[in-house]
Amino acid sequence: MTEAVLLVGGQGTRLRPLTINTPKPMLPVAGVPFTVHQITRARDAGVTRIVLATSYRADVFQEFIDGADLGIEIVIATEDQPLGTGGAIRHALPYLQSGANEPVLVFNGDVLSGLDIDALVRHHVDGGADATLYLTPVADPRAFGLVPTDAFGRVTQFLEKPQTPEEIVTDQINAGCYVFRRSVIDSIPGGRSVSVERETFPALLAANSLVQGVVDRGYWLDLGTPMAFVQGSRDLVLGIAPSPAVPKPGAYLVLDGAEIASDAVLTGGSTIGRCAQISAGVVVEGSVVFDDARIADGARVTGSIIGAGATVGANCVIDGAVIGDGASIGAGNELLAGVRIWPGVQLAPGALRFSSDA
Ligand code: GTP
Repeated sequence: MTEAVLLVGGQGTRLRPLTINTPKPMLPVAGVPFTVHQITRARDAGVTRIVLATSYRADVFQEFIDGADLGIEIVIATEDQPLGTGGAIRHALPYLQSGANEPVLVFNGDVLSGLDIDALVRHHVDGGADATLYLTPVADPRAFGLVPTDAFGRVTQFLEKPQTPEEIVTDQINAGCYVFRRSVIDSIPGGRSVSVERETFPALLAANSLVQGVVDRGYWLDLGTPMAFVQGSRDLVLGIAPSPAVPKPGAYLVLDGAEIASDAVLTGGSTIGRCAQISAGVVVEGSVVFDDARIADGARVTGSIIGAGATVGANCVIDGAVIGDGASIGAGNELLAGVRIWPGVQLAPGALRFSSDA
């Protein structure tokens, strides 16, 4: 039996306003909550039991996640106060059944990856390690925690967000999945906030514990920002990112009850949510349209997220933008890169236009 802790209690501030009502791991991606992609991948890799470490909007997980439906045992552990990544893992300890020397997997709840999870656990067990981290190379490591390893794959340092070229000693970053010997979890201080990245990992090195890194060059994406969220959704629909919860990849995904005009164009791995309405002449390209949203005649939506129940008026151009749940965008508006409209906001027709004829 392999157990896992799935960290899903963060506030998802970078994804606001989408995360005001829905915690990041519960946002729908390619037809199911994002966390379902992670749970089913872990299940298929041999994980039999998952402790969902929740905090922010724990009620949403309780209502919608059922292990029986997903073929895996799920236990929900809720922190009264957010305890940070390490504190959440320590808080999950009484819910674990693994023995002191057995491996426990930990996943960040916002990472989409093609990692061979089973191979990571085997590497950990075969190496007799205290901790084994999944590492991924990135082109620009400045926004991440760097994890250099030696010739034997032993982690030598944990470096938080390097800024100068001298500090960038490797392109390997912590990819948000690791295996702990269970007794390591016992040693995390209880009852207070702990960062696994800033406190637990460096403490393991300081204590001369065996910390290994496994570099995997396959698919990896942190869905922390709106544009990464759109990309992850696209990649799942198109089959670029692997998930057992997307049985049949294709150019787009239309969920039950959606109404699509015959001349509407859906491309680039777009998802159209349940009971959404896409009217005549609309183009939706590489975007996510949540349930019950409505897009009126001639609108063009590219690389954007349209929140649940939101309305996009006729001939709008929405490109690289996020429209919150229930917002109403009047006809003829142009919302371009980076614009975020808060839930329920009503934008008058033509209020925002940027093109040369504006
Ligand atoms: P931002 O606010 O946008 O940074 O997002 P986040 O806090 O949700 O994510 P971050 O990347 O900082 O955290 C990594 C993972 O740990 C995510 O899956 C979070 O859900 C989770 N996490 C962060 N803090 C906590 C916490 O206090 N408790 C629990 N249970 N999980 C947490």
